[in-house]
Amino acid sequence: MEWVLHILGVVLWLGALLAAGLVRGPEQPGQPSTRRRVLNTLALPGLVLTVLAGLGLMAHAHSGTLTGWFHVKLTLAAVLVVLHVLMARGRLGGVWFTPVVGLLGLAAITLAHLKPF
Ligand code: HEM
Repeated sequence: MEWVLHILGVVLWLGALLAAGLVRGPEQPGQPSTRRRVLNTLALPGLVLTVLAGLGLMAHAHSGTLTGWFHVKLTLAAVLVVLHVLMARGRLGGVWFTPVVGLLGLAAITLAHLKPF
């Protein structure tokens, strides 16, 4: 069950970050921006689910399985959290944001599935 919740969290979090990076155009005065709504209603719950289910998977992981790949994956996840926070604070959001998030996410998924080292 943790595995399913972990994957659901990853899809929600990364999907919302990718979408938030593409949001452009005028916003309604006095209304929370579309980007902020995407980050708060989709990305943040996705991040929380990814981490909580990830901790559950860590608790039940067989000894010796969480090797180098896992440390690199956690580092990529930490970089994605920093990008998420900086975007939420309006400090980031250029055209490069979505491709960079896409590449970091793809690298983390590939590492987690192949466990190459
Ligand atoms: C960018 C963020 C993340 C992505 C894309 C990601 C992706 C994945 C994927 C695809 C798997 C399943 C691999 C498979 O069974 O084939 C997985 C497993 C796992 N993830 Fe994550 N994850 C992320 C963040 C985290 C975080 C933050 C944690 C810990 C708090 C974590 C802990 C784990 C653990 C323990 C497993 C099980 C490894 C095993 O024993 O097979 N992940 N992750």
